[in-house]
Amino acid sequence: MNEKVHVVNHPLLSHKLTILRDKNTSTKDFREIVSEIGMLLTYEATRDLPLTTKEIETPICKMEAPTLKGKKFAVVPILRAGLGLVDGVLRMVPAARVGHLGMYRNEETMEPVQYFCKMPRDVAERDVLIVDPMLATGGSASAAIEIMKGYGCQNIKLMVLVAAPKGIEVIQSSHPDVDIYCGAVDEGLNENSYIVPGLGDAGDRIFGTK
Ligand code: PRP
Ligand code: URA
Repeated sequence: MNEKVHVVNHPLLSHKLTILRDKNTSTKDFREIVSEIGMLLTYEATRDLPLTTKEIETPICKMEAPTLKGKKFAVVPILRAGLGLVDGVLRMVPAARVGHLGMYRNEETMEPVQYFCKMPRDVAERDVLIVDPMLATGGSASAAIEIMKGYGCQNIKLMVLVAAPKGIEVIQSSHPDVDIYCGAVDEGLNENSYIVPGLGDAGDRIFGTK
């Protein structure tokens, strides 16, 4: 791991992640907390957004006050589970555009299979934040980054709730330019390439499909 991996250590986030990991957490609570953590991670992932200033008048006097420069931004969820994070990102960056990337892991080979893609027309000019709760083998995220680079995107970040060391390694070797933001780095993967201890199948838990 190097300086491109940002593990967001914050008591609120750790507390919320524990609720997600608990197998007894309801679908409703799981979905709400994924969204809340999405907001907290976005706060870190947007730390380098450029600022400018504008003149305003407070009740006391005039001042040159900081304001966002308004750089174009897109959030790209990897369907399905990534959808759970979009709302949290949009609460922090309401003007962001959303590009959807449909992908699932083939259960035998663990290779990502793409089934949908719809991007904003000007996505190449936008800073891109790819979101997915889980970075396991790294196959899905790596393919998603490749696709966004294919569109001409130059500034790409990846935001996940839980990462396995293997997934981080794969992204760092295939896309060393990409910053990874995560809530935790877990021990590893089991024989089915699920993150251990992890939180199970994120898509199934968000959408209640199991
Ligand atoms: C999950 C998860 C990631 C992927 C991570 O999606 O949301 O996209 O697996 O695994 P990887 O790092 O080994 O590629 P899944 O295939 O379960 O699809 P879903 O979101 O539709 O449930
Ligand atoms: N996908 C999930 O949803 N969970 C894992 O632990 C690994 C991949």
